[in-house]
Amino acid sequence: MTKLLNRVAVVTGAAQGIGAAIVKRLLEDGAASVVALDINQELLEQAAEELDPMGERVIPIKCNIADRVEVTDVFRKIYERLSKVDILVNNAGITRDAMFHKMTPEQWDSVISINLTSVYNCCQAVVNEMRKQKYGKIVNLSSTSAWGNIGQVNYSASKAGMIGMTKSLAKELGNKNITVNAIAPGLIDTEMTRSMPEHLKTMALMLCPAARVGNPSEIASVVSFLASDDSSFVNGECIKVCGGFLM
Ligand SMILES: NC(=O)c1ccc[n+]([C@@H]2O[C@H](COP(=O)([O-])OP(=O)(O)OC[C@H]3O[C@@H](n4cnc5c(N)ncnc54)[C@H](O)[C@@H]3O)[C@@H](O)[C@H]2O)c1
Repeated sequence: MTKLLNRVAVVTGAAQGIGAAIVKRLLEDGAASVVALDINQELLEQAAEELDPMGERVIPIKCNIADRVEVTDVFRKIYERLSKVDILVNNAGITRDAMFHKMTPEQWDSVISINLTSVYNCCQAVVNEMRKQKYGKIVNLSSTSAWGNIGQVNYSASKAGMIGMTKSLAKELGNKNITVNAIAPGLIDTEMTRSMPEHLKTMALMLCPAARVGNPSEIASVVSFLASDDSSFVNGECIKVCGGFLM
């Protein structure tokens, strides 16, 4: 496939799960280089080796995306090495679930900074260059939890915040040939959901017409669409990819 020919992409949280599937799909669709960022260096290097055994197109870089100074430094190095970033996929995220009356400030702060402030950090690092090159595709991984979920006030707030950011940025950048879109996955089979209590998974599946969990590749294909010129007139959208769980 060549729909991403010559494109340079950066994917956060790329060591496993949906992020690793996104890297794989962008490579399959022809991206020239995919910079894979993750806080977990060991896992990231393993994933990069599996996805690109020759080490030609995947560039793994350890980065804590919640740390603004580190993000600025990493993106400076990316621009020095590759000269441009065409596609930014803000995928990294965490959960720290608790009922709100038991939620600690640490659980609130860590989720907001890793899921939401990180998107500010990474978008800030690319947006001026994207404006100059008059081209850019930003894709943000939100969640169906943005519409509310018990035990996830912190996570829902971060993922709903991401949708607001997506729409405002899309309005600001639309006339510079930059699109900003979000995806709201439902339940997807990754490390993040494997530790979920079984009764909660069963309940979620009962409410899902597809009656199954999704695969990371089913999110990656939509990311690739939003990262390509096939979606050139799609801007400020949040596409639910959840087997009909929310409609
Ligand atoms: N799995 C699901 O059911 C589901 C549903 C809706 C939305 N999402 C969202 O999709 C995205 C990917 O989820 P996943 O299921 O693949 O998660 P995952 O836990 O399997 O992977 C997340 C990756 O992010 C990395 N990461 C965490 N903190 C980081 C930081 N500070 N800096 C850099 N990297 C960091 C982790 O090391 C990990 O490799 C997340 O934003 C998640 O909220 C997932």
